[in-house]
Amino acid sequence: MDASPPPGPARPLPARQAASPVALPTPLERIDLNGGPLPAYRAEIASGALATDPAQAAAAERLQSLWAALRAYEPRTGNGSGRGLLARLRRRLADESAPGGPNGLYLVGEVGRGKSMLMDLFFASAQVARKRRIHFHAFMQESHGRIFAMRQEMARLGRQLDDPIPPLADVVAAEAALLCFDEFQVNDIADALILGRLFQALFDRGVVVVATSNTPPDALFAGQPGRDAFLPFIEVLKANLDVLDLGHGRDFRRARVLAGGVWFAPADARARAALDRAFADLAGSVAPQPMTLAVMGRALAVPLAAAEVARFDFRTLCATAMGPGDYLALATHFQALVLDAIPLLSPDSHDEARRFITLIDALYDHRVKLIASAAAQPDALYPHGEGSVAFRRAASRLEEMRSHEYLALPHLS
Ligand SMILES: Nc1ncnc2c1ncn2[C@@H]1O[C@H](COP(=O)(O)OP(=O)(O)O)[C@@H](O)[C@H]1O
Ligand SMILES: [Mg+2]
Repeated sequence: MDASPPPGPARPLPARQAASPVALPTPLERIDLNGGPLPAYRAEIASGALATDPAQAAAAERLQSLWAALRAYEPRTGNGSGRGLLARLRRRLADESAPGGPNGLYLVGEVGRGKSMLMDLFFASAQVARKRRIHFHAFMQESHGRIFAMRQEMARLGRQLDDPIPPLADVVAAEAALLCFDEFQVNDIADALILGRLFQALFDRGVVVVATSNTPPDALFAGQPGRDAFLPFIEVLKANLDVLDLGHGRDFRRARVLAGGVWFAPADARARAALDRAFADLAGSVAPQPMTLAVMGRALAVPLAAAEVARFDFRTLCATAMGPGDYLALATHFQALVLDAIPLLSPDSHDEARRFITLIDALYDHRVKLIASAAAQPDALYPHGEGSVAFRRAASRLEEMRSHEYLALPHLS
């Protein structure tokens, strides 16, 4: 019988066990991982590949302790062989006497703090036979798909599946005693409803979980309908994972991207490739998608956005009926804007020039980082025409917006 695709969000499911996007400056093959994540992290600092960061160093120490604990850890499998009552009973008794696994870790912090980088060092060095690293969203999609397939199989046998969680947890626990989740977050009520029992069942089976997230456990699924039913999950999570806060320190990803330049002229294929790369880097593991922002009761269409970065081309942003409200909404919502193909503006294009000035003012006021391709340097874009004096001020702001000082400022939202 063919299994039709499971219901739920129609986003593509990344291939299982696909190579993880390793967020390290040095390829993992070239790092000595035998001693665990901490020596590896220190070696990367010593070689200059990584900059020092006290919060990261503290996190690396905690990851090292877990690494050591896992070397000696023999997880119960929870679904050993034998389906008979006696086999089950024997297993249950064994399970009850087996010690639980060590607490896992929940790495929380703003984007670019090195959460994925540290988890990758830990995961790659972990001496655990069955281990798996997966994007949390992909894991949840896979789980819903598995529940769907189990229900279908039971229906085919003319039976009903009362509770899909225990068999699902058996499968997941049999695959991995160590589960590393990148980008842990909960936006979906369907996820929220099964997470508590699924994770409890995984912990009961001795699975150790390490996760990265932008959201502290207590703020997961905040303000969403059905939150009350979700609260027990937060307790389960906090009881089994220690929270490590990487805080609001330096955004290494942004620093690396911005160090590669933010003004590319002329707007040729090379500039386009540089903008593609910068946008992809700033988006990180989030897939860019079109979205809308609510602006005074209207919907402002953003052609592509991911995390805190948006991408527009000049014509869409400055040659259409956009106004200060739109630019303000963009500047407060996004930390960075990638802007393609700013042309030379003739005196006839004074409306575009005026909108561009308004846009730059909004970006500047909110310390938004602009990465642009343009026909020329800022001060040569609109030399003559109505408002060209005001444009000169915008050009000088654009120069300032390229400075190290400006690029290091935090976004004002
Ligand atoms: N201490 C550091 N020094 C230099 N680069 C770093 C450091 N920590 C992280 N990075 C780099 O910054 C980028 C963002 O790190 P990442 O782990 O993806 O952050 P997060 O998962 O917290 O968003 C990666 O390219 C990573 O290699
Ligand atoms: Mg990450």
